Amino acid sequence: EDETDTIANMANIASMIHQTFGFWWTGFYRVRTIPESEKEMLVLGPFQGPLACSRIPFGRGVCGTAWKLAETVIVSDVDKFPGHIACSSASRSEIVVPVFGEDGSKITAVLDIDSAELATFDEVDKEWLEKIVKVLA
Ligand code: SME
Repeated sequence: EDETDTIANMANIASMIHQTFGFWWTGFYRVRTIPESEKEMLVLGPFQGPLACSRIPFGRGVCGTAWKLAETVIVSDVDKFPGHIACSSASRSEIVVPVFGEDGSKITAVLDIDSAELATFDEVDKEWLEKIVKVLA
């Protein structure tokens, strides 16, 4: 509870969720300014699970959509989500929760959890995951 380093906390949060529930992929993408373009993108952060795409543009995929909408997105069947980024064909459903910064307005990261089963996530997951990511603010 005394740890203030964001990366350390993201790493342990991803590990605890992943180990406890046995999801397919659990991790963070951080909002970073790309030096070459000075544009912001989601860049892969601490995670548990198989290899993942390292960069996701604003509005792209489920992660980019949660960032754009500034709200949690639950997808029961990724094949029915237009523009879903398939890092792994084993992923069938997912939830992406935005992480807000200290002042509560700017999104600094998203928490992305992928399940190998359909319709894994609901409003209860949304409620508690949103509480968990608040420790990162
Ligand atoms: N599912 C994400 C891409 C990231 S990976 O699944 C780890 C998306 O469509 O945003």
